[in-house]
Amino acid sequence: MTQQRTVLVTGSSGLIGSEAVAWFDRLGWEVVGVDNNMRMIFFGPEGDTRWNLSRLQERTHRFSHINLDIRNRESVAQLFQERTFSLIVHCAAQPSHDLAARMPFEDWDVNASGTLNLLEAARRYCPESPFILMSTNKVYGDAPNELPLVELESRYEYARSTDFDGINETCRIDRCLHSLFGASKLAADIMAQEYGRYFHMPVGVFRGGCLTGSHHSGVELHGFLSYLVKAMVHSKPYTIFGYKGKQVRDNIHSYDVLNAFFEFYQNPRAGEVYNLGGGREKSLSVLAAIRKIGHPAGRRIAFT
Ligand SMILES: NC(=O)c1ccc[n+]([C@@H]2O[C@H](COP(=O)([O-])OP(=O)(O)OC[C@H]3O[C@@H](n4cnc5c(N)ncnc54)[C@H](O)[C@@H]3O)[C@@H](O)[C@H]2O)c1
Repeated sequence: MTQQRTVLVTGSSGLIGSEAVAWFDRLGWEVVGVDNNMRMIFFGPEGDTRWNLSRLQERTHRFSHINLDIRNRESVAQLFQERTFSLIVHCAAQPSHDLAARMPFEDWDVNASGTLNLLEAARRYCPESPFILMSTNKVYGDAPNELPLVELESRYEYARSTDFDGINETCRIDRCLHSLFGASKLAADIMAQEYGRYFHMPVGVFRGGCLTGSHHSGVELHGFLSYLVKAMVHSKPYTIFGYKGKQVRDNIHSYDVLNAFFEFYQNPRAGEVYNLGGGREKSLSVLAAIRKIGHPAGRRIAFT
């Protein structure tokens, strides 16, 4: 008989968290999801994730949801005391640069302190269980912009072919500009690495670029492809912020992110960091995305 495993997924109603719920439910695991729908507080009604929670509740078999705020240290510790988790997938976050400047305390409390609450609870109650932190490439701040670029018709491109494989994990993380969001995520990222290395815990840190999928509650300030498609479908104006729309990102599907997480679960390391890149063929600029999705006449694109 196989042992029943339980995974804790934070941010379980969000893009990556909901993919994690579905993934482990399919594998027959028990899934405990934590999400307080704070995305709606961050972004208003368009950020409301309850539709995604209902979808999961209808379609999964062993999923239970807890409306818990990861900022609440006591509640987080109590959850770990009461339940035994074989794996923790931590995806709850304040995910936007621009919003962080407007809500610096909430941003820090969720991203940095919330992560510490989970790491410490894991250390106390299940230190042998793999812990996955969903981090971001924003931990590198604007350091990657120092690589020489050339401007093409629809995108910026690396000037040197030796850079074509992109930025690796040795890129420096300090002495550059991050945004408050980048700084709070970097704090969480470093703390997670430290729990791995200092306490020898199986902690993996995954740094995403642009992650996407149909279960994102995309809003203008977060969830680029999801929001772009919505704007196109509903004939809303779409605003490109800076760089003439030629800024390039890897766009990785949430399902592929889960594949990476599962590989880590099966072969965890203590405090390892992974950039989640897709290679040049999975990267595109904002302009290229607009063209790919289709841009029927009459849909306004504004540039700032
Ligand atoms: N989506 C991307 O393009 C992208 C890129 C790089 C990194 N990431 C990182 O991946 C992670 C997941 O991103 P996502 O796109 O799934 O975001 P998301 O906003 O869709 O999901 C996050 C979920 O966390 C919940 N949440 C927020 N604060 C909470 C709190 N205090 N307590 C409990 N739940 C809370 C929100 O309600 C939301 O449902 C984040 O750490 C984000 O920084 C995302």
